[in-house]
Formats: sequence, structure tokens, C-alpha cells
Amino acid sequence: MTLPAESIIVRSRKAASPMANRETPFIFNEWYVAAFASDIGRDLMPRTLLGKRVVLFRTLDGTAVAMDDRCVHRSFPLSRSTLEGDTIVCNYHGFRYDARGDLIQVPSQKACPQGIGIRTYPLLEKGPLLWIWMGDAERADESLLPDQPWTRADDWRCTRDYFLHPGNYVSMHENLLDLTHLSFLHANTIGTPDFAPAPYKLGLKEGHYSLVRSVIPTRLPEVWSRSTGIHGDTAARIITSEFLSPALHRVGGRYYDTALPEHSRPTFHIFTAHILTPETRNSMHYHIIHGRDFALDDEALGQAMHTGLIAAFQEDVEGLGALERVLDSADEQHYEISVASDAPAAAMRVHLKRRAELEQQRLGA
Ligand code: FES
Ligand SMILES: [Fe+2]
Repeated sequence: MTLPAESIIVRSRKAASPMANRETPFIFNEWYVAAFASDIGRDLMPRTLLGKRVVLFRTLDGTAVAMDDRCVHRSFPLSRSTLEGDTIVCNYHGFRYDARGDLIQVPSQKACPQGIGIRTYPLLEKGPLLWIWMGDAERADESLLPDQPWTRADDWRCTRDYFLHPGNYVSMHENLLDLTHLSFLHANTIGTPDFAPAPYKLGLKEGHYSLVRSVIPTRLPEVWSRSTGIHGDTAARIITSEFLSPALHRVGGRYYDTALPEHSRPTFHIFTAHILTPETRNSMHYHIIHGRDFALDDEALGQAMHTGLIAAFQEDVEGLGALERVLDSADEQHYEISVASDAPAAAMRVHLKRRAELEQQRLGA
């Protein structure tokens, strides 16, 4: 078999791979999205984040709180308990906790044991997102937040959605870093046949991996030709996929009509924040914010774009769920090969594995 010069083939066996996969421990010292801020209120909301059961709620003054979803007495879930003012009363034997997680009352005795409580987690609310830090609390630095100001900017319009995705978060990052799959997995939604063979540029900076693919000229899929008004086969479609943190991936699209003069043609920007929070090793919370910088007041157009995109993301959810089931039956002989356009994804996976191993070493130290 003859390979094109730019191809690389790297075989990796499941056990020996230096790349993160679903067996790799989670990275805890990182901001992840716990929920959309609007999802949290005066109900006790359970959610499993990075394999840990957490309960989320708001105090009477609106402050969001996250704590382990487990009473210290006999492990009854606090999410099935009662929120009274700013305290939670366990619905099993009535232990009461304040919003800092401190145990403040044991109903069967006068004295309450001191210094006992539930672990709480640092939270940060930024626009539509509620971020959580599940690692060492003293390292929860706001400057590490992969904030996306466009998601709340006046000159952008955004819609949002959520999937409980039946796959590992590493495979979703990989899916997003090489959109070759648009021509295949999304052939009936947002893909076109010329996307996969189009030229691309790689970015391999440590912790920031990207792939920019330029499809020029092309005919846009219907959802984007309708929203941008660029019909025919003279469109430019430039897509930038960026890994910004273990919790966040941004895909930015730039569209224009090459048939129009360069100095006067409009350029349309469409961004999507793919917000990935591991739930278990083979499931994740998948929050999506989808934005545009044009037709700001056209709600119907925004809704049509959203519907079209979510139909495509459903294909990812189903496709990666199917992939996960193949991995369920993989044995020690299982291997995968990588090719040239996998380079950013492979580097990203090595980065994730290295960070996970460093955290494990610190925990064991
Ligand atoms: S399990 Fe909560 S009070 Fe007993
Ligand atoms: Fe996809």
C-alpha cells in the first residue's frame, strides 16, 4: 500500500497508548460546567460530575451551592432531602446542614458533633454558565476559566441546548478537533463531500490544539445557505476547531461569498461552544451554546439554525454512543491507527493523559 507523503500512521494498542482514552482518570483541577445557571434554583438538583455525585441548589439570596450528594450519617442522598431556608434536612434521620455543608443539627441528641460536614465545591457563575471546580479548592483560580465573552455579548445572539451524551468526553474532543467527519457522519445535515479533502492547517501549542479547514469555493449545506443567504457554489467556508480546555471546545465558522468584491462582501461568523463535562467514563453532560453575529433580531432564523445544528449533533451523540459500545467489547489486542489530520487530536489526548497522570502522582505522593 502506498501512502501520500503527508500521511502519518501511528498504531496504538489500548493498554500501551500514551493518549488519553476512557480508561484515563478524570482531570479534577480544572473548571467544568456543572449546569446552565438557569437550571439551578430552589430544587435540590442531583448531578454526577467527574464520577462524583453532587447536589446543586440556590440559597435564598440566589447564591448557587454545590456539595456532595451524600449525608455523612448513612449516605442518604441529600438531593432527596428537604431544602429549608438555606439548610438541607436529610430525609432519612433529619441531620441538618447549612449552605457551607457544615452539620448543624442532629435531631436525636442535644449536642451536634463539631467539625463534621459535607464537601462543597467552588462555583463561578458567568452569563449562562455555572462553572464548578472539583479539584483542590485552593487552586480554583478564576483566571483559569476558559471564559467565552461572546456567549453573552450584545453583538451576538446565542441559543443553547443540552444532551446527556452516551460517550466519553475524550472521544468528543477528538470528534470536534477533526471535522473530516462532516462529509460522512453529517452527510445529510451540515456536511458536504468537499469538506474532508479540503486543505487544513494544524495548531499544536501545548494545551491549545486546533485545526483550520478552508473549503473554498463550496456550496453550503442548506442550513447555512439559508441563514447566510449565500446560495450557489461560490461560498467560502472556513472552520476553526479549537481545544481550549478539558471542559471546552470551540468551533468557529467564517462564511462569505467569493463571487462578491472582497472589500464589500459581508462575512458571517457562527460559533459553537461545545462544553464537555464528564459524568462517568462513558457518559458526559454536553452543554451547547450556539451563536451568530448577524441577523441579530431574526429569532426565526436563529431557531432554524439551532434546529439544523442540533439535528447534526444528534448524529454525533448516536455515532459516538455506537463507538462506545464497540469499545465495550475491545480486548487487549485492540488497536487504532492515526493519520495526518489526527495530529491535533492525538496531541490533545497525550496532553490529557499527562495531566491526569500528574494529578494521580500528586494524589499518591
Ligand atoms: S442518613 Fe441522613 S440523617 Fe441518617
Ligand atoms: Fe459532528
